[in-house]
Amino acid sequence: MNNIEITKQKEYIEKVKEINKNKKLNYYILTMGCQLNENDSEKLCGMLEEMGYNKCEDMKQADLVLFNTCCVRENAEDKLFGKIGEVKKIKEDKGVILAIGGCMMQEEHIVEKLNKSYPFYDIIFGTHTLHKFPEDLYNAICENKKIEDVINIDGEIYEGLPIKREDNIKASVTIMYGCNNFCTYCIVPYVRGRERSRKPEDILNEIRNLAEKGYKEITLLGQNVNSYKGREDYGFDKLLEDVCKIDGIEIVRFVSPHPKDFTDDVIDVIAKNKKISRVLHLPLQSGSSNVLKAMNRKYTKEQYLELVKKIKTKIPDVVFSTDIIVGFPGEKEEDFEETLDVVKKVKFEQVFMFIYSRRVGTRADKMENQIPEEIKHKRFDKLKELVEKQTIENNEKYIGTIQKILVEGESKNNNKMLTGRTSTNKVVVFEGNKELINNVINIKIVENCLWYLKGKIS
Ligand code: SAH
Ligand code: SF4
Ligand code: F3S
Repeated sequence: MNNIEITKQKEYIEKVKEINKNKKLNYYILTMGCQLNENDSEKLCGMLEEMGYNKCEDMKQADLVLFNTCCVRENAEDKLFGKIGEVKKIKEDKGVILAIGGCMMQEEHIVEKLNKSYPFYDIIFGTHTLHKFPEDLYNAICENKKIEDVINIDGEIYEGLPIKREDNIKASVTIMYGCNNFCTYCIVPYVRGRERSRKPEDILNEIRNLAEKGYKEITLLGQNVNSYKGREDYGFDKLLEDVCKIDGIEIVRFVSPHPKDFTDDVIDVIAKNKKISRVLHLPLQSGSSNVLKAMNRKYTKEQYLELVKKIKTKIPDVVFSTDIIVGFPGEKEEDFEETLDVVKKVKFEQVFMFIYSRRVGTRADKMENQIPEEIKHKRFDKLKELVEKQTIENNEKYIGTIQKILVEGESKNNNKMLTGRTSTNKVVVFEGNKELINNVINIKIVENCLWYLKGKIS
């Protein structure tokens, strides 16, 4: 079934390629949302390039515009509708194919809104039909039909589609799709379906191929990576261990684990393998046990802190990063104080902070005790202030230390400098010869610049 479908899509790729022969066509892609979406976009780019399109950075130069959407928070929606408005003008001027895919297309009210207010799109597709993009594009071009290809049945896992990677040193590999957790604020389980894990062989072969091509850093992706189940007796701990055995791969990262599923086996594998990044992303969401219960996170403040302590005892050089939501329905001032307390105790290396955003269809959206915007913003600012203060303090501990760094390229702001990251994901900028790019070298940290560190080759 799986192979037949992929063979079919490869035939559509050939058909579109034939139609596009001798034409010079460009595509523009905008990806919103998380790393999983970025990885999906790499697959869409792979298909598009095989079909004869070249990537361009200016939407106005494009013959095909593709938006890969996110709906985890409201601001992603605002951004999309703004962008679609821009495409309307280009369509009127010169004609362009507009394709919109991804998580937001799984929401009925959004598709209705598109059909009502933005009916000039050519293709919409959801998260379960991404692999059918060549077929959808073929039908849109040849039959001049408007395509609405969104289904609500969990997509199968399709292997072997083309992929065009953004980077040639570090690569992301999706190990599982979907989520079963239904945190009450979150739309992801509704738009991505239930958990499905890729087979260990498929993942390991993909990473071996990447290593052969010279990739040195791998990030394993999933909404809840530590509930990965490749086989009955093969969980995330085994996968991590096998990934670390692959020659050529020097750094292994993963996002996101769920605190409730962080087993001792996984902790032991991390402790044993120096290749695994020493920053663990451990989404807290809230420091209040009451709020955590209402969020359906299945751990308390105390259990979270216990887990941090246990991991630190087994892996002393580990640091943590996290996600926090402020202003969840019913969050009292004292609940928020509990969040600040956990931030102070764990001294997170990095905190991704979000203001709670109501999502249609989730349980929290129906809760009556929604928090006024003003209070949400006040809490957000207070949290941000604490996090920034801690970032400066956290950085200080790096000064004078020697860090092993994979040199990723020239610094974005100064092309005379090189850049890379510590095992704990801190950006380090230093002077050096470009030949060092894609090598792992030792750097002595000399200066704390808040969002990055300055270093010297040692
Ligand atoms: N599966 C991952 C992340 C999913 S989305 C995990 O569980 O960690 C990334 C982050 O967005 C979440 O961790 C959460 O902090 C935030 N988020 C999700 N839904 C949100 C909402 N409705 N409002 C605000 N932030 C939200
Ligand atoms: Fe959303 Fe929770 Fe699943 Fe993460 S674990 S994707 S926050 S439901
Ligand atoms: Fe957004 Fe979908 Fe990721 S909703 S956060 S792009 S899984």
